[in-house]
Amino acid sequence: MTRFTLVSTILLVAAIASASIGVPPPESEPIEVVELPLPPVSADSASGSCNSTINPHGTGCVAQIGGGSTTETIGILAQGNFLPDGKHVIAMVTFVGAPEAPDPASIYAGEQIIIVKTDNSTFPNGDPWKCLTCGIPVLNAASRTDLLDYPQAFSDGKRILAGDNVIDCGDHKLTSPECTPDTIFMFPIRWETSADGKGEGGAIRELRLHPDSVHLGFSSFYSNNGKMGQSAYFSRLQFNPAPLTGLPLAPRYDLVNVTRLADINSMQPLSVDGDELRVNFSAITVGELRGFSGRGHEAIYIGFPWESSNIDAFAIHLQTGKIRRLTNHPEYVDPIHFSPDDEWFVIEDTRGSGRQMFMVGMRGIPPLTDLVSTSVTTATRNNGPRLFFQPFLLDHYGDRGDYFGQKLNGPGRGVPGSGDVNDPEWNAMAEPRWSPDGTQIVYWQAQTISPQYDGRNPLPCYPSTAPGGRTYRLMKAKLASRTPKNLPPVEEACDVIPWGDPYVPGSLQRGPDKPGTGDYTLKGEVAGYANVSLVNQEGNTSTSIDTVAVIYHNYSDDGITFINGWENVTSRSLSPTINHVDWYSDLVQTGEDEYLATKKTSPDGFHLELDVLRNLFNANGTLTTTISGEVYEQPLNNT
Ligand SMILES: *[C@@H]1O[C@H](CO)[C@@H](O)[C@H](O)[C@H]1NC(C)=O
Ligand SMILES: *[C@@H]1O[C@H](CO)[C@@H](O)[C@H](O)[C@H]1NC(C)=O
Ligand SMILES: *[C@@H]1O[C@H](CO)[C@@H](O)[C@H](O)[C@H]1NC(C)=O
Ligand SMILES: *[C@@H]1O[C@H](CO)[C@@H](O)[C@H](O)[C@H]1NC(C)=O
Ligand SMILES: *[C@@H]1O[C@H](CO)[C@@H](O)[C@H](O)[C@H]1NC(C)=O
Ligand SMILES: *[C@@H]1O[C@H](CO)[C@@H](O)[C@H](O)[C@H]1NC(C)=O
Ligand SMILES: *[C@@H]1O[C@H](CO)[C@@H](O)[C@H](O)[C@H]1NC(C)=O
Ligand SMILES: *[C@@H]1O[C@H](CO)[C@@H](O)[C@H](O)[C@H]1NC(C)=O
Ligand SMILES: *[C@@H]1O[C@H](CO)[C@@H](O)[C@H](O)[C@H]1NC(C)=O
Repeated sequence: MTRFTLVSTILLVAAIASASIGVPPPESEPIEVVELPLPPVSADSASGSCNSTINPHGTGCVAQIGGGSTTETIGILAQGNFLPDGKHVIAMVTFVGAPEAPDPASIYAGEQIIIVKTDNSTFPNGDPWKCLTCGIPVLNAASRTDLLDYPQAFSDGKRILAGDNVIDCGDHKLTSPECTPDTIFMFPIRWETSADGKGEGGAIRELRLHPDSVHLGFSSFYSNNGKMGQSAYFSRLQFNPAPLTGLPLAPRYDLVNVTRLADINSMQPLSVDGDELRVNFSAITVGELRGFSGRGHEAIYIGFPWESSNIDAFAIHLQTGKIRRLTNHPEYVDPIHFSPDDEWFVIEDTRGSGRQMFMVGMRGIPPLTDLVSTSVTTATRNNGPRLFFQPFLLDHYGDRGDYFGQKLNGPGRGVPGSGDVNDPEWNAMAEPRWSPDGTQIVYWQAQTISPQYDGRNPLPCYPSTAPGGRTYRLMKAKLASRTPKNLPPVEEACDVIPWGDPYVPGSLQRGPDKPGTGDYTLKGEVAGYANVSLVNQEGNTSTSIDTVAVIYHNYSDDGITFINGWENVTSRSLSPTINHVDWYSDLVQTGEDEYLATKKTSPDGFHLELDVLRNLFNANGTLTTTISGEVYEQPLNNT
């Protein structure tokens, strides 16, 4: 199964322009970015190639090529968060070239969790890192699962969540010399999804530890009518030393008090009232969970767009259900992490890359075609394992006016191939993480490598300038002017989410209700209207719509810009993960000072086929957005 694919199979969401518009944006601040150490690199993965010349300490070598998000890539890096002392970060790395057992170095093999010093100091053996999971006796990890992604430290400094496992060093701090492989245990996490309590439990993904270190958020796919969907959940992690039911019958963490982050009684963001469509921006629907705010009061998620094709991050208060839109830049956002004091957050976003602008550059288009198109409009953001993300720092209130945050790794896009911190060939990978004192952020990057995916990419690739020719790197951004904060521990969150949907094991998961087929009118908030046809091409009114056709008449939600023209999008599922869309647009937006924007497809339309697990751009025809003379074109196929 592909890992780290941030498949935002999205539900519907929205809200109202927030009062935060009035808060002036912060000044930009000094940020120093340095690379953190990783184990030495072995270009060769053959047994024994990590020899004493490469690593005299005999503590392993990591793969040279890697960083991507697919099984085609050898070396996976997945950096996690800081340990509570703020001086170490945890990361999953891929060790290669270990000699055969019984050589003591044979334990440095495959995917493992390491701790990396962030302050230029070293462990007693002279290494700036320490492998935590290398050499754990089999019996200490008999029921572990393979996945170790998104490692996250518990606040006790003794445990780590990695994949769907908890790594536990008992009474010892993970950094202490007493925390050795023999004292570490790995326990799997089990989610009860069957009514009879039998079996292995449900598949969970994108796990996010709540900052109280007691609760866990996660997402899970479901399949409904041959279409893939995803729900997000909040739960309590409870250690079960001797389970009596369910597999594995071994010490494990059970997820109890599981709540689906959805309000079954709420109005959908798009609903029908007679022959009118209504948009409700305060309707509660959570797509893919991205984590929690620093003090843990809000869940952070990617939600259904408020503006067509514009994928944004939102926060919802766990108790009140109040929604905040955190980003509104047209480009795509996904990885996000809040500062421990809630005053700031860091995102990884395609903003500045121009990747998505061809489709989403025109602002203020209501999210109508999105009823059928989100699976492709989210999947165009990357090219296979190549992401186009860079990290950006934003204050608590997020994007507003012309404030879109500060790029962490220098302004602008640097020289391709230079290896500088702002080299655009080095793309940020999920996820960035704050230090507990709020003065540092770690993130990691992967370089565009050849052949990216299947070799059809015609773009140039550059040799790596990182140590050992590594194509991935671990970075630390220091917010140089900030004073470290010493925050009190996070209060334990309540198990009950008043607006949530308590999960009953065995219950069927399904998506939100979409409006049925028909012809509707959507009135602009300020002016004009749109005629909206929701169609099922096969004429089967009992299956969901696959086509949205809209004609705009002087449509305006803000009274500043006005949309005329038409747009229609049809989506067909070729498999649960592969979609084909046929897209036709001819939109014109006008405003003051001769503002003019257009969104147009070529006469034969724009046709896109994407597998949301591979994200390889493959289109016929064109879709082009032009804003005040600036032309945004789609990426070349396979790039
Ligand atoms: C380690 O491997 C490298 C590359 O194959 C080789 O040049 C070097 O001599 C080896 N060192 C030892 C101690 O075998
Ligand atoms: C470690 O110190 C060196 C020399 O002062 C400096 O160049 C490097 O950036 C430092 N690394 C970290 C991670 O602070
Ligand atoms: C939480 O789960 C535990 C264990 O299943 C149960 O005893 C308790 O009643 C639940 N609490 C709530 C508020 O549902
Ligand atoms: C929008 O949905 C919310 C949540 O269901 C509801 O409370 C509110 O009344 C709705 N607003 C409108 C205008 O329908
Ligand atoms: C569009 O709506 C605005 C605001 O109501 C109005 O001033 C303008 O005349 C309208 N334009 C057209 C072409 O109807
Ligand atoms: C479009 O909507 C307007 C306003 O509701 C309505 O008068 C008109 O008949 C609609 N046109 C079509 C083709 O449905
Ligand atoms: C329409 O779709 C429903 C649900 O998938 C199916 O049961 C029914 O047979 C379909 N009807 C026709 C005429 O295809
Ligand atoms: C969408 O637009 C194309 C091009 O004008 C047209 O051929 C097609 O019939 C339209 N589809 C719908 C459902 O309106
Ligand atoms: C593009 O056109 C070719 C040739 O007609 C066809 O085989 C292919 O499936 C089309 N791809 C898309 C994404 O429409």
